[in-house]
Amino acid sequence: MQTKILYTVQDLRRVRISLNGTLGLAPTMGALHGGHLSLISRARAECDHVGVSIFVNPTQFGPGEDFSRYPRDLDRDLRLLEPLGVDVVWVPSPEEMYPGGFQTWVAVENVSAPLEGAYRPAHFRGVATVVAKLFNAFTPARAYFGQKDAQQVVVIKRMAKDLNFPVEIVVCPTVREPDGLAMSSRNSYLSGDARRAATVLYRALGAAKNQFDAGERNAGVLRATMLATVADEPLARADYVSAAEPDTLEELDRVREGTLLSLAVRIGKVRLIDNLILR
Ligand code: PAJ
Repeated sequence: MQTKILYTVQDLRRVRISLNGTLGLAPTMGALHGGHLSLISRARAECDHVGVSIFVNPTQFGPGEDFSRYPRDLDRDLRLLEPLGVDVVWVPSPEEMYPGGFQTWVAVENVSAPLEGAYRPAHFRGVATVVAKLFNAFTPARAYFGQKDAQQVVVIKRMAKDLNFPVEIVVCPTVREPDGLAMSSRNSYLSGDARRAATVLYRALGAAKNQFDAGERNAGVLRATMLATVADEPLARADYVSAAEPDTLEELDRVREGTLLSLAVRIGKVRLIDNLILR
């Protein structure tokens, strides 16, 4: 099968209409890695057709964030996609996605507020808006997202339900490097000591999980353990650590099976996130 590379909404719609059966969509910002590829392989296994979008979405980056230096290499991305049997890759330009006079936003209120939302105020408005536009453009039966971005999954599920998008949201496990670091396009900013320090997120989650496995149920104790692990790493600064209810993202006093542990850590200028669901 020949993968179609498309750039305009008009071309995407024309091709979409010609595809019968279920379409699985994996939205991405490119700089593809094993995490992205796992979403696409899962879509390939579960759907008649597979669509991938590659768009570094300006509206989900705050002022002073890494929009301008975010890694972009379309040729490399297309080479990585070649063996995966993708039907359609959509690579819209910013002008195509946000035409002049653009003023319509999707705001998912409560679940966008804590955690990432507290540090990146307009982030989830940008994410929800662009994902709504991707759902309208591809009309997928299923859309594939990574557990790596746990709050994003909560926001998108809420949006799909509230706005009656006829799409099933499929959540795929976090893919990790051999030392536990969650794969991320932003890992390319790390080298040497910073790359070694970046394992602190996985170590902090593991230390809290060990306490849970040993019977600890006080959420404050688990949060303190994560904070202490991060504090032990000289290059790392925690933005937040959290033990929250997985659907509402409300902080808990007591943890249980299903509780979402998450954290955001800065290693120098590089900001990383990770999470784990207690089982
Ligand atoms: P991006 O960071 O490119 O991620 C695209 C998808 O890959 C997201 O669903 C993300 O959760 C998933 N992903 C990233 N790293 C992963 C890993 N290590 N394991 C499993 N899945 C992983 O998330 C975005 O782009 C954007 O916000 C987007 C949804 C495309 C909207 O612009």
